[in-house]
Amino acid sequence: MSTVLVEPNPVRMEAPSLPKAEPCVMVIFGATGDLTRRKLIPALWNLRKEGCLEGMRILGVGRSHMSDDEFRELVRQALVESKTLSEGDEEEWRDAAQRVFYEAGELNDDHTYQNTAQRLQELAADGASSNHLFYLATPPSLAAEITEGLGKAGLSKQDENHWSRIVVEKPFGTDLASARALNAKIAEVFTENQIYRIDHYLGKNTVQNILVFRFGNTMFEPIWNRNYVDYVEITAAETAGVGSRAGYYEESGALRDMVANHLLQLLTLTAMEPPVAFEADAVREEKVQVLRSIRRLKPEEVAERTVRAQYGPGDVNGKRVHGYREEDHVAQNSHTETYAAVEFRISNWRWSGVPFYVRTGKALARNLTEIAVHLKRTPQALFARTPEDELDPNIIVLRIQPNEGITVMFGAKRPGFEMHTTTVNMDFCYQRAFGVEPPAAYETLLLDVMRGDATLFTRGDEVEAQWRLMTPIQEVWAGGGAPLVTEYAAGTDGPEAADHLLARNGHRWRRLSESTSGCD
Ligand code: BG6
Repeated sequence: MSTVLVEPNPVRMEAPSLPKAEPCVMVIFGATGDLTRRKLIPALWNLRKEGCLEGMRILGVGRSHMSDDEFRELVRQALVESKTLSEGDEEEWRDAAQRVFYEAGELNDDHTYQNTAQRLQELAADGASSNHLFYLATPPSLAAEITEGLGKAGLSKQDENHWSRIVVEKPFGTDLASARALNAKIAEVFTENQIYRIDHYLGKNTVQNILVFRFGNTMFEPIWNRNYVDYVEITAAETAGVGSRAGYYEESGALRDMVANHLLQLLTLTAMEPPVAFEADAVREEKVQVLRSIRRLKPEEVAERTVRAQYGPGDVNGKRVHGYREEDHVAQNSHTETYAAVEFRISNWRWSGVPFYVRTGKALARNLTEIAVHLKRTPQALFARTPEDELDPNIIVLRIQPNEGITVMFGAKRPGFEMHTTTVNMDFCYQRAFGVEPPAAYETLLLDVMRGDATLFTRGDEVEAQWRLMTPIQEVWAGGGAPLVTEYAAGTDGPEAADHLLARNGHRWRRLSESTSGCD
C-alpha cells in the first residue's frame, strides 16, 4: 500500500521572465496543415503574449491559393479552435494579423522559392528583419525538395548581419538510409549549426528536468548505475487511437512514430553521462555516446526482445472504440503496429547488465508518460518474516505527463508495536510546487531556434544513431518475422506479450493505473 508521505513546500515564486527572440521572419512551409494549426500558431501567439516576440513576421507558404487576408483568417480560426485567443484579445489580434503574410506555390517548383525570396525582400524593405527561419511543417518526403529550393533561391545564405535557419520536423526520414540521405541533402545547402531537427519531447519542461534532477543534485547520481539500478522502464501510453492520422500512421507505426525518436530521447537523457556544460555541443555529444553504446539487436534477438501489437475493439475511459483495422483509411489486413515494446541494453561501464525497457501504444487504458528507475533489492530482508512480507525495492519515477512530477518509493515502518513495513511515496508535483503551468514544448523550442540555441534539438549523427538501432527491428518486422503482430483490447495496458518480455528477466511493468502522484 502506498501513502503520500511528504509533500514539498509550495514554492510560489514568480515565473522567471521569458527571454526575447531575435527578430525574424518565420517562413512556414505547410502553412495550412495540421501541425501549423494545432501547434505552431498557438505557440507563436502565446510567445507573443508573453512579450517574447518583437519584430516578428510570419510568411505562410502552401499550395492553396489565398490572399494574405484569407490566411490571416485561417490563423485566427486556429487560435479560436485551440482556445488560445481569449475574448479580450481582439485588438492585439488585429495588430498581430498585420504581421502575417501568405505566398501560394507548389513545393516542387523553383518559382515558389524565388517568389518567397522576392517576398522576403519586400518585407525587409517594409521594415521586417532579414533573419529568416524556415519551418518545414510538411511530410518528411518533401524535406529534401524544399531544402533544395531554398538553396537555389539563395535563401540559406547568412552573414554576420543576418541569419538563416531551417527547422525540420520529425520523422526525420523513415529509416537509416533515408535519414542519411536527408542529412546529406540538407548539408549541401545548410551547415549543421543552421539546422534544427525537432523532437518536441525535448521541449517539455519535465524532460529537461531529467537533466536537472540528475546533474543538479548530488543525491541521485551516485546510485544511477548498474550497482544500484535493477532495470529501467520508459512508458509513453496514450488513450487516443489513430484518429484522423491513419494515412501517415499506416506507413509509420509505433516504432517509427515514437520509439525511434521520443522514447530513445527519454532513454538517452536517463542514461547519458554528465556533459561538461549545459550547451548544445556538450549535451548532444553525451547523448550520441549513449546511443552508440546501445547494443544493436541481432536479427535472431528481435523475436525475444521486441513486441508489436495492434489495438482491437474495446472500451477506453468507458467509451466503446473501434479496433485499428476498422478505423478510416486503415487497411482491413493492416499489420501496422499501434503498440511497440523493446528491451535495450547499454554496453558501457555504467549500465552493463541493466535492461532499459521502452513501451508505447495507442488506445491504452491511460495517458501516461513516465520513466521508472527500479533499484535493486536490499541485500538482506531484515524486516520480513515471510517472503511475502519483503519490502518492495525502491523505485524512482520521473513523470513526464500528465501530473508532471517525481515520486520516490521507499519502505517505512507502519505505526504500531509490531515491526510491520509498507511502501510509501515521497512526491514532488510540479503544479503544486510552482503553481504555474510550464510553457508548451513548441513555445520553448521555437524560442530556442529564434535565439540560436540548439541544445534541445537533435544533431544529424544523433538521428542516424537512433535509426541505426531500429534497423534490425525494422528489417525483421518488415520481413514478416517474429514477433507477429498480436492484438490487444483497446483500453487495456497492452498485449500480454509485453509482460512476457519483462518476465523473462524476472521484471514487470508498472500497471498504467499504478502511477499515482502528489498532484492526483
Ligand atoms: C507525435 C506522434 O510525435 O507525438 C504522435 O506522431 C503522438 O503519434 C505524439 O501522439 C505524442 O506527443 P505528446 O506530446 O502528446 O506526448
